[in-house]
Amino acid sequence: MTNKKRIFSGIQPSGNLHIGNYLGAIANWIKLQDEFESIFCVVDLHAITVPQDPETLRKKTLEIAKIYLAAGIDPKKSSIFIQSQVSEHAELCWILNTIAKMSELEKMTQFKDKTQAGVSEGIGVGLFDYPVLMAADILLYGTEVVPVGEDQKQHVELARDLAKRFNHKFGETFIVPKAFVKEEGMRVMGLDDPTKKMSKSATSEYNYISLTDDAETVKRKIKKAVTDSGSEIVYSDDPPRVDEASPRVEAGKPALKNLINIYASFSGKTPKEIEALYVGKGYGDFKNDLAEVINNFLTPFQEKLAAISDEDALEILRAGAEKVRPLAKAKLDDVKKKVGFIS
Ligand code: TYM
Repeated sequence: MTNKKRIFSGIQPSGNLHIGNYLGAIANWIKLQDEFESIFCVVDLHAITVPQDPETLRKKTLEIAKIYLAAGIDPKKSSIFIQSQVSEHAELCWILNTIAKMSELEKMTQFKDKTQAGVSEGIGVGLFDYPVLMAADILLYGTEVVPVGEDQKQHVELARDLAKRFNHKFGETFIVPKAFVKEEGMRVMGLDDPTKKMSKSATSEYNYISLTDDAETVKRKIKKAVTDSGSEIVYSDDPPRVDEASPRVEAGKPALKNLINIYASFSGKTPKEIEALYVGKGYGDFKNDLAEVINNFLTPFQEKLAAISDEDALEILRAGAEKVRPLAKAKLDDVKKKVGFIS
């Protein structure tokens, strides 16, 4: 390990990884891996906080690792590993549980979203505790920067609070990490509803473009994506206004804004340049080109993905776990000593 600052991030092996996960997280990791000592995790302990099928979990865990590799995470520069293969994550989570407060976890937006406004009937304790495990992931490695999409900022904030609380109570132990959220791609919205983020657990496949969708599927989904009233391709910076009685969009052009943002992220063009390209043209032309721009990224990406064998991915994951385990162990040993455990 080097003297570079450390970054840590992860993705759950559940549902279909989509272009929101890529633009909000992975694309930034690739840029950061030269500058930082990078650790990227497949967070399978998090994935079991909702009902799951063991065979699918195994498949998805390997798939996420392959996606990291195909997207450009270089195992020579970055460590890639599976969370459950480093048991220190669960152990530190337990210790942090004793300083985390019920009230702060009850405030977590993601928990409220997943439990329909906080109704906890039938919800596993693991889902409630999800952010504490995420804090353990981050704090275990002396992480300074956590590159994530905007939806994870609140969880990183909790990791900061827990680090400070622990340090205050037991003495300087954890580095207080910062979230790094890149402007472009920070929040890719659903294609079927631009008021909500694109989500792996969406019920309709028309909500997202999966990283494994073929070219025809991408065309079909973009064609079906909701658009706003009017026919001009204009980029509106107005925030979507939502009226309380009906959660539909009232003003601004949030659907088009989302599509233009996706176009911009994959093409390297600015929203203004994209607007200029479609003066006098309509949604049909714009959507055809958008599908092409996405496919220009997905097609070579999927070729690389298909070329990575299970064996190669497993080898990289095992080597990654070997590399990070000593760091995790050293930090956990220090924590155990500080709280008064006998070694
Ligand atoms: P997950 O799997 O839900 O999301 C993985 C990453 O994708 C980003 N993301 C998005 N970005 C832009 N637009 C979207 N529509 C969108 N949807 C998802 C998320 O912000 C995230 O960066 N809890 C984490 C996993 C985790 C983790 C960690 C991350 C566990 N431990 C430690 C960082 C550090 C999560 O949301 O995974």
